[in-house]
Amino acid sequence: MDSKIKVAVIGCGTIANSTHIPSYKNNARCEIKYFCDIIPERADAAVRKYGCGKAVYDYHEILGDPEVEAVSVCTPNKMHKEITIDFLRAGKNVLCEKPAARTYADALEMQQAQHETGKVLNIGVVNRFNSSVRKIRELIEAGALGEVYHVYASFRAQRSIPGIGGPFTTKAIAGGGALIDWGVHFLDIVMFCLGDPEPLTVSGRSFCKLGKDMKNYVYHKMWSEMTKDVENGTYDVDDSVTAFVRTAGPTITLNGAWAQNIGIGEMYIDFLGDKAGIRLTYGGNFTMWGTSGGALTEETFQFGANRMFEDEIDSFLRCIRTGEKLPSHIDKNILTSKLMQAIYDSSEQDREIDLR
Ligand SMILES: NC(=O)c1ccc[n+]([C@@H]2O[C@H](COP(=O)([O-])OP(=O)(O)OC[C@H]3O[C@@H](n4cnc5c(N)ncnc54)[C@H](O)[C@@H]3O)[C@@H](O)[C@H]2O)c1
Repeated sequence: MDSKIKVAVIGCGTIANSTHIPSYKNNARCEIKYFCDIIPERADAAVRKYGCGKAVYDYHEILGDPEVEAVSVCTPNKMHKEITIDFLRAGKNVLCEKPAARTYADALEMQQAQHETGKVLNIGVVNRFNSSVRKIRELIEAGALGEVYHVYASFRAQRSIPGIGGPFTTKAIAGGGALIDWGVHFLDIVMFCLGDPEPLTVSGRSFCKLGKDMKNYVYHKMWSEMTKDVENGTYDVDDSVTAFVRTAGPTITLNGAWAQNIGIGEMYIDFLGDKAGIRLTYGGNFTMWGTSGGALTEETFQFGANRMFEDEIDSFLRCIRTGEKLPSHIDKNILTSKLMQAIYDSSEQDREIDLR
């Protein structure tokens, strides 16, 4: 009997083509049965390019196929909730790209559907499969840093707004900008490594500044440029953000920018403990500083090739068979959605949000 898991990929854009589809293609546990995109040429192109599967332009056509067990949701954020819930209720297991949804309320609805159906719902918090991140979590848990009292996360680029005027910069589609798109990964790493300390209060401010005059926006680099629409598009999301979170454990400071008028980018997280401190370079290695026998110490931890996307997909497929609950399960990262919502709420309401 063919026990390969049949997969459907919903949304055949950037992330699907760069990570999900190649990871499924190279995984012996599965085969791709459907490529779905509302832009027919994209679904058709995937069938041609990967030499497998059937092109579909409306995901509802896949819901009733009993062979499909696993679904990757790789659409813009706006569609995450509806598509994910429809597939869960159709008895499928879902890996939904990050952020879970545009709002915390929507993420809670997705979590509720997971609880009711008992199917797998993992979110694409892919850094939970990164070797450096996992090692930092282990070191903190083992007490190697002593008491971790503060964490500082910085994700800032000079001028790197994605697809200006397109889905990424339209709040109704994306839910937000730099925070929900980049900050989601940083906050998620921090909470994962700290073992989810209870959040107490959140104060934040998000800014929509550098891209507002879309036609005259001068940029350093633009990713997802194919989605830009400066003539008719919208620009109403945060291009930078700052936040301060008090937890029952450490405090957390967050500074992020898709765009800033500073020519030096920063992508790192500092974990500050009373015995040792760690700087994690986002997506890369980390260094730990401390003391030993009256002398200063410095150790850099290096891991081989970063296979976090492959591991994320392989673990998703495996857990469908084994029933194990992965670190990317919605229950384990819903806190990230809660914190992002609190930062946006704090900014809009111009006050500190008490989460107790
Ligand atoms: N994990 C990561 O590091 C990472 C990186 C990039 C993007 N993402 C996430 O992946 C998602 C997609 O981002 P992207 O950059 O690939 O966007 P994209 O615009 O390149 O691709 C999205 C695709 O979804 C299709 N689509 C839209 N509505 C659909 C529907 N109802 N049914 C089927 N297809 C539909 C679009 O036509 C498009 O081809 C976003 O949620 C984004 O946050 C995650």
